[in-house]
Amino acid sequence: MTTTPLRPATAAGAVGTAHPRVEGLEKVTGAARYAAEFPLPGLAHGWLVVSRVARGRIRSVETGPVLAMPGVLAVLHHGNAPRLRTDYERQFGAHDQTAAVFQHDRVPHAGWPVALVVAETPEQAREAAESLTVTYEEEPHDIALTADRPEARTVDDYLPGVTEKGDLEAELAASAAVVDAEYTTPEEHHAMMEPHAATARWEDGRLDLLDSNQGTTWVQSELAGLFALDPADIRVRSEHIGGGFGSKGLRAHQVAAAMAARVLDRPVRVVLTRRQMFSLTGHRSPTVQRVRLGADAGGRLRALEHRTLNHTSTVHEFLELASIPGRVLYDADAHRTASELVPLDVPSPTWMRAPGEAPGSFALESALDELAEKLGIDPIELRLRNDPERGPVSGLPFAGRNLAACFREGARRFGWAGRDPRPGVRREGRWLLGTGTAAASFGAGAGPSTASLTAEPDGTFTVRIAAADIGTGARTALTLVAADALEVTPDRVRVRIGDSAFGPAMIAGGSTGTRSWSWAVMAAARELRERLAAAPDIPADGLTVRADTTEALGTLSQKERHSFGAQFAEVAVDPATGEVRVRRMLGIFAAGRIVNPLTARSQLVGGMTWGLSMALHEEAVRDPAFGGLYGGDLAGYHIASHADVPAIEADWVDDPDPEDPVGIKGIGEIGIVGAAAAVANAVWHATGVRHRHLPIRPDRVIAAGAVDA
Ligand code: MOS
Repeated sequence: MTTTPLRPATAAGAVGTAHPRVEGLEKVTGAARYAAEFPLPGLAHGWLVVSRVARGRIRSVETGPVLAMPGVLAVLHHGNAPRLRTDYERQFGAHDQTAAVFQHDRVPHAGWPVALVVAETPEQAREAAESLTVTYEEEPHDIALTADRPEARTVDDYLPGVTEKGDLEAELAASAAVVDAEYTTPEEHHAMMEPHAATARWEDGRLDLLDSNQGTTWVQSELAGLFALDPADIRVRSEHIGGGFGSKGLRAHQVAAAMAARVLDRPVRVVLTRRQMFSLTGHRSPTVQRVRLGADAGGRLRALEHRTLNHTSTVHEFLELASIPGRVLYDADAHRTASELVPLDVPSPTWMRAPGEAPGSFALESALDELAEKLGIDPIELRLRNDPERGPVSGLPFAGRNLAACFREGARRFGWAGRDPRPGVRREGRWLLGTGTAAASFGAGAGPSTASLTAEPDGTFTVRIAAADIGTGARTALTLVAADALEVTPDRVRVRIGDSAFGPAMIAGGSTGTRSWSWAVMAAARELRERLAAAPDIPADGLTVRADTTEALGTLSQKERHSFGAQFAEVAVDPATGEVRVRRMLGIFAAGRIVNPLTARSQLVGGMTWGLSMALHEEAVRDPAFGGLYGGDLAGYHIASHADVPAIEADWVDDPDPEDPVGIKGIGEIGIVGAAAAVANAVWHATGVRHRHLPIRPDRVIAAGAVDA
């Protein structure tokens, strides 16, 4: 296997060299503390009680018997909980009432928090929570996501829900080849290792929260809104995080812990159980998607339409913008992308690794493969013929678009040349073999951030920034970025993150974290070096400068900025047992400057692994009768395990953007984009049968069979 060599750090610079995680030793020795691991005198433990009905009203919460149980201190519910403000201005997700617990008697979905039992120990709290009788006035619920829901509507959030140009029907009618197909993806869950947990304390009217989240100043601002406090009176810390994937924002447990701590006037910790996470921490909505493509005989797209539908809860309008890939990847004379949602009696979905792009790319990139088949054009060639010069929707030029380079390098290394395009012709014993490919893109955004940088008298440097390392290696990346910006070796740089006291910073989300924070760190380093050049003496308490990128972000020219990637997969399918084995995957990415090849590769391979899991395994199934999940836990929700995951290789091509002062594009999400489509396209190539509904389960493979080649 050839991979970009992991160059050792030299005086030439730390960025671009492989560096193990700076907190690695702390983590493997157990010294790193996670949100639920801080010992605290006087700590009480809260346990959430969640609704067993999917819709209705709470008739009674019978607290009496539970309050008499050993160690029980309080039962909070809608009848006695402090009132929260819910009309405050949000950084993300206007009108989201998902975390505003115990404010009314309405039950919007199965697994909704209806009470918090607080006790001296977690065992007592759990015992009491499981004994609490809650009665409901049950109403009929509706959880069915189907393509024909009349209430489907779009919303404009960061981006418009709908884009359109040209006359679709006319272009489709004039096309030499047309694909018109429906694709579906199921409800999927983040399933990060570390459960959500928070410990809240109040002192002199100020809230202190130890938490596991993707942005301490984000959670701080949400809590300030809900509890009507000045953000300066809230401190949120989140030093180590065992995975987030989009799910670790403000959730019920932080709010419940803060409420209980205030009511009891002592510290309270709330840890979610794995089962509770399946209804309280967001998920990827199922999608129903329809793609219509029309092309001339040479493969040039005349028409592209991508319509998507997702479910959301009745407390938050979350749009899964699955129609987004076509806004970047392909232009057409008539071009329409439209995402809509339907509010149902289900928990609120949320961002999950490559929200929009992950499910959307499955449909669009499958449809491209179907079009290639109809036209008799190689799937890579078809994509290269439709590689636009400008943003198909924006009309803006691309600040680097290296998709073609990814395909060329990927094809060379995967051995694409000489592939027999006919499906169902390669056999190895009981296995049918096939290969597939897909394109990927993901936005390269940035958000305003502040950083402070201290030159210490001992010759070391301390960076402080409210960044979040959710397992990505962000802390290590920032160490390398700071070292280069200061022209020192990384061992002289200490990076402190995960504390709202460090000032506003972008969240670890949308693959913007490392890019946004690096920007601030580089700006602070520039300022510090100027100060040190003018006055080299460092005072005893160090010399500290602060930088804020709010203005600098605005000076970047208006261009389309994205990462790109080419995904490849080889599968073996046994049509008799329905088993699909992925034999190898390769992803080649153009993702700007790669800060740390070691952790970067891990991010990309992690995303691709999830794509495999999405293609073949993951599916949360709701029971129509009670509205909750069948097996909503890690025993029932099937995730790819080691034995399912073959050799996965990820690498990258040069992707410079000379105009961009940072050059980092972010790699947290692009690894999953297109990966499921590459697997599905390989399954088609193996069997000759299209699988348009994920996951490609054995029963579906058996039912679909294989072409008789
Ligand atoms: Mo990511 S889904 O923006 O944490």
